This record gives sequence, structure tokens and C-alpha cells, in this order.
Amino acid sequence: QTPAFIDKLIQRMTLEEKAGQLTIMAAAWGGSHATALNPPGDGKGFDDQLADAAAGRLTGVFNGGGAEMALRMQKAVMQKSRMKIPLLFAADVIHGFRTIFPIPLAEASSFDPDLAMRTARAAAFEASGAGIDWTFAPMVDIARDQRWGRVMEGAGEDVYLGDLFAAARTRGFQGESLNSDESCLACPKHFAAYGAVEAGLDYNHVDMSMRTLREVYLPPFKKAFEAGAMTTMASFNDINGVPSTENHWLLTELLRDEWGFTGMVVSDYTGDQELIAHGVAADGKDAARLAFLAGVDMSMQSDLYYKHLPDLVRGGAIPEEKVDMSVRRVLMIKAMLGLFDDPFLRIKPAREKSRAFLPANIALSREAARKSIVLLKNEGDLLPLSTSKKIAVIGPFADGKHDLIGGWVVYGTDQDAVDMPTALRAAGADFTVTKGSDVEKPLEGGIDAAVAAAQAADVVVLAIGESQNMSGEAQSRVDIVVPEPQQAVAEAVAKTGKPIVVLLKNGRGLALKGAVRDAAAILVTWQLGTQGSNAIADILFGAHGPSGRLPISLPYATGQEPYYYAHRSTGRPQPADQPREPYKAQYRTVPNAALYPFGHGLTYGNIAYSDLTMSSADLPWDGTIELGATITNSGKRAAEETAQLYIHDVVANVTRPVRLLTAFQKVQLAPGESKKVRFSITRQDLLYIGLDMKWGVEPGAFDVWIAPSAQAEGVKGSFTLQGG
Ligand code: IFM
Repeated sequence: QTPAFIDKLIQRMTLEEKAGQLTIMAAAWGGSHATALNPPGDGKGFDDQLADAAAGRLTGVFNGGGAEMALRMQKAVMQKSRMKIPLLFAADVIHGFRTIFPIPLAEASSFDPDLAMRTARAAAFEASGAGIDWTFAPMVDIARDQRWGRVMEGAGEDVYLGDLFAAARTRGFQGESLNSDESCLACPKHFAAYGAVEAGLDYNHVDMSMRTLREVYLPPFKKAFEAGAMTTMASFNDINGVPSTENHWLLTELLRDEWGFTGMVVSDYTGDQELIAHGVAADGKDAARLAFLAGVDMSMQSDLYYKHLPDLVRGGAIPEEKVDMSVRRVLMIKAMLGLFDDPFLRIKPAREKSRAFLPANIALSREAARKSIVLLKNEGDLLPLSTSKKIAVIGPFADGKHDLIGGWVVYGTDQDAVDMPTALRAAGADFTVTKGSDVEKPLEGGIDAAVAAAQAADVVVLAIGESQNMSGEAQSRVDIVVPEPQQAVAEAVAKTGKPIVVLLKNGRGLALKGAVRDAAAILVTWQLGTQGSNAIADILFGAHGPSGRLPISLPYATGQEPYYYAHRSTGRPQPADQPREPYKAQYRTVPNAALYPFGHGLTYGNIAYSDLTMSSADLPWDGTIELGATITNSGKRAAEETAQLYIHDVVANVTRPVRLLTAFQKVQLAPGESKKVRFSITRQDLLYIGLDMKWGVEPGAFDVWIAPSAQAEGVKGSFTLQGG
């Protein structure tokens, strides 16, 4: 129900003012960005943008200068504009505002949606304190090709995990009520299938069956909308030849007619303009028409709506009622955010400072970072290290504050991060630091220095991997390995025979090889935010045990990409644990499996799964079966295990994934302790898009595993879904 005052506002607006409400631009604070009427590169700055805002040519700006800028702009609009419609301030608050949390992919390793809810809440608290109303997050794109750089922004390859994190992050950003100076409006993005760009090349074409789109790529969006998200961003890519920005089926028939979405769709940055390069629009006017009629309510950064919507309406190409509807959606959102009651609700410059870096948020950043670290291997219980050992920390990430917080950060800074030496000193470690090489370039004398440092130490800690600008937007890689100069250092250091712990920095799944793969211990430490180094020290010396799980599979080789555990059954499977046979689905040189699969992650305990119990081997059509397994920690240290429930439909009417994560449960185990984990399964857990393109399932046999990863056997059983 639209409040009457909104309809009255719309009645009084000119077509130009309506188009202004549908136009958002990057903030020109600092003079670096374009204004609505002045295209990028013309050198004009903030004063021009202020004039645009006061003249009603803008609905808002994004990635601006915080509360001070917002105050000046909002004042100008409230004092000078004809309609006095408050501006909307947006920003990419992707993994923290000033206090930076782990990159979203890392945080998904926690398998703890509640943690993601809390970090999103904390980010919204800081951001809303600085005048931000709307965050362009969470990114809920499922990503199954590690060559794609934006893998780092999402929750990984799995639908179930993606669903949980999409909903949790949305709830976290939005809080209990949007009309609060502690909440930001969420924008699940990028709608849709952006994570499936061909060959992992950013912005590339997506060719995808409707079945896979509906089963894999759309569900996290649906969950985010069910959790209350009121906006979404059209993706840059095309799907099966139709760019999302002009995809009427996607943005209107599916989103609004089928799902009942009542919120607002924004284009991605110049996404409408790019319809020309896609080759589906003749010029800017045509692009604006196509995007608008498809269902894009608001245009980001191109200024095409401002320039062309009025004429398109006057010329009869777009009905004015449709423009009114989009304006109504935008104004409704401004109303929900409390902006008509108080345009300055979130704009209080003093609060911007007082909310940043609160001790609780710093502690949360460290907790989140700790829970994001994944222990891949730990031969001979090398970890945790004793602080009495002499440690040679080697690698481009061993020192300095660069590359620690992670990419896609607009407001946090490297300077706020804790570097490794500071964290190691605080933990009482005895260590030396040697660079060895730059991230992507060898360093003169670097290898010799690294070898000398290793020789003088009891144990080597290699801080190696990707710098933060190697993943993220437009950072696709053809070879997802540790860069060669660092690999060379690792090979040389390994020859010293000293035990090696790898601290892998990565914004995507990497294919490990040689001395890196063969190191005695490997911790995936991603880019972990402001407190990452402290969290690494917590795990390295055993103050806390590792508990993270891989949200993406690490392949043996780049050539396996896209690689994901839930691949459909082929007619000629070659199980990785069986002798190879000719004419099976396999590569010549690597197993048809992951080196480290989705869900994998060790603890400092010694974990075993046993004794599968099932309440029945028959699942009634409308019934439930209960499953359980015993998890035992026979190790000497406490452990947090994440038991995962996977299901496989043995006979369906279309091919089904070899396994699909359906639930997981965390269990804390003291040394020597055993506990039972329990799950229940209903028919709802078995649904898929069948031959008829509807969600359904037929009676029949299913395999089920309770296991520590997508590739581990754990305990296995089977059950039969009875007919209805
Ligand atoms: O939100 C982002 C999007 O993810 C990529 N293009 C730019 C937008 C605004 O910064």
C-alpha cells in the first residue's frame, strides 16, 4: 500500500524530476567522479553534483565521502530542491565499513551464517553511522569457476550454504527494522548467474539451462528476498543471449510476477549503456528504453535514464504510468528507510567517528577471521607450533600491512590492519621475517635470503599466495596457482628439509603444486580483514583450534575448472578412489576429484565418524526420517567438527548431482569425547527441477552420507522415499 503522500509527490513531479529519482551516480566527492549531466572525464566535481542534486536530477549517490559529504548534499536538497525528496546514500559495504571483516568467501568457511549475520550487522552499524542508507551487498552469486575473480565476494560454490549466507547477511544489514539509524538496506546481487561467466572471464557470456539456473543460481536470491531484501542489482552478463539489464523474463516475469518481489531493481554501473556494446541496443536512448521496459527501475552511473526517459515517455515508447511505478518503488524505499520522516536520520558526522572501530567490532573481526581459517593438512601434528621454536616467516605477506584486509573495501584502510610481526610478537613467538620474493616478481637475492633464514630456524612459515588485487572484479586468472616467483622460493626453502607451514593468502580456490602442496601443514588464511594476523597467530600457536571448512573445492589443476563437487552424474563415472579404467570421465594427468574438496577442513583433534543410525529405511511421502552418527575426537586437543549431510538421488527423471549438501551441524568435542549428531530428512530436502521443469521428486532410492567433506565417505546409508 503506497502512502498517499507518495502518490501526491508523484503527481506534482515533472518528467525530468521523475527521471532524476531513477538516476544514481558515483559520488563526486573529491572531484574524481562524473555528475549526472557531465560524463566521466570532464573534470567537473562536487559542486556540479551538488547542483544536480538540488535541481532534482539525482536520487542519490554512492561510494561517497561519508557523513560530511552526505550532510552537505542532503542540506542542499532539503533547502533548495523543488520536491524536497531526500537523497539516498549508497555504498559497497562488502565486508565491513571501517572495521574490516574477512572477505565474504573466507567468512563462508566458517559455515556459520549467524557469524555472517553479526558481521553484516556490525558493518551496517558503522556505515549507517556515516550516512550510508543502502549497501550494494550481499553478493549471492554462486561461483563454481575459480578463474573468476569475484569468487571472493560470495559464499562459494554450494547452493545450500549460499542460501544460508544470503539470508543471514541480508538480515544482518537490515536488522529488525529499516527505519533505524543502525540499519542499511541490502541489495543482493548480481541478478543473475554472474558467477557462471564462461571460462571464468569477468563480464562474459553465460550459457545455462533453465534447470541449472533455477536449481543453482537463483535460490540464494530468493532466500535474500524472503529475508526482507527490497532491492537487487541486474548483472552485467547476458544469459543465453539476453543481457540481464534488458531481460524482461528475469526482471519482471520471474522476479515480480512469479516471486512477488515488490522492491526496486538497479542496474549495475553503466549496465544499461553496455547494452550498446552487447550489440542489442542501437544507442543510449534505445538502451534506456530496453533496460527500463525490462524492469530496471534505477540506472546506475550512465545518466541514460535522466537523459532519455522524459523523451521516451513524450514519444510514446514508454508509458508514464510505468515511470510512475518505478518512482513509487524508489520513494517507498526512501520511506521505509525513514528518510521522509528525517532526511538526516543516518547523517550525524560526530557519530561516524564514534561508531568506527568499537572494541566489540574489533573483537568480532578477530573472531570472524579465526573462524574463517581452514586447516587443509597437518602432517605429524606440526601445528600448533610452540612459541619456543625458532620460526622463519618467509614470503611477500610476512611483513607490512598490504594485502591483509582484502579487496573491495571503500572505507577501510590497510593502515588499520595488524601486520604479521605485530601479531606474532604479541603471541610471544621467536621469529625472523624474510620477503623471499615480491608477489609476482622475483627479488634479487630473495631466494638465497629465504634459504638462509630457513636454515637458521626450526620451522618455516611461508606467507604466500595472491595479493588482494589478484581477485575481485575484472581479475580473472588463467592459471589459479601461487605465482611462480613465490613458488620458486617455496621449492628452494623445501630443499632445506625444514618443516614448512604454508599460510595461503587467496581470494579464490587455488591449485597447489610442488613444495606448496607438499608442505607438512597448510592453513588457508584468505584475506581476513583488520584483525587477520591476530587470528592467524591464535590458530598457529593453538590458543584456538581451526574450525573452517572450504566453501569451494581446490582442484588439482586449473584445467579442471569449472570444478564443483555437486556435478551431475555422467554415464561413465570414474570414482577417484577406484583404479582408472579406459573410456571413463577422467583427465589424463589428474584425478577427477578435488585435491581438497568442498567442506574439507581439519581440526587439532583427531576426528572419526561411526555408527550411522536411521529411524527407518523408508521415508513416508509426508513423513520424516531421523539420522544420526557418532563423532569421536580421539586426539589430545579439543575440536569443533562440522558434520555434513549429503544426499544423492539414485534414480531421478533427469541427471542429479553425485552428492548435494542438505544440512550441517557443528559439534564441540573435548579430547576423548564422542557425541551424536542428528539430522532429519523430509521430502522437501529432495526436490529438484524435473523433466516437466517443476520442483518435484518421485518415490525411490536415495543415498545419504554424514561426512566431514563432500569427498569423504564418513558414514553412508540409503533410504527409500515411499509413494504418496
Ligand atoms: O556494486 C558494484 C557492483 O558489484 C560492480 N559494479 C559497480 C557497483 C557499484 O560500485
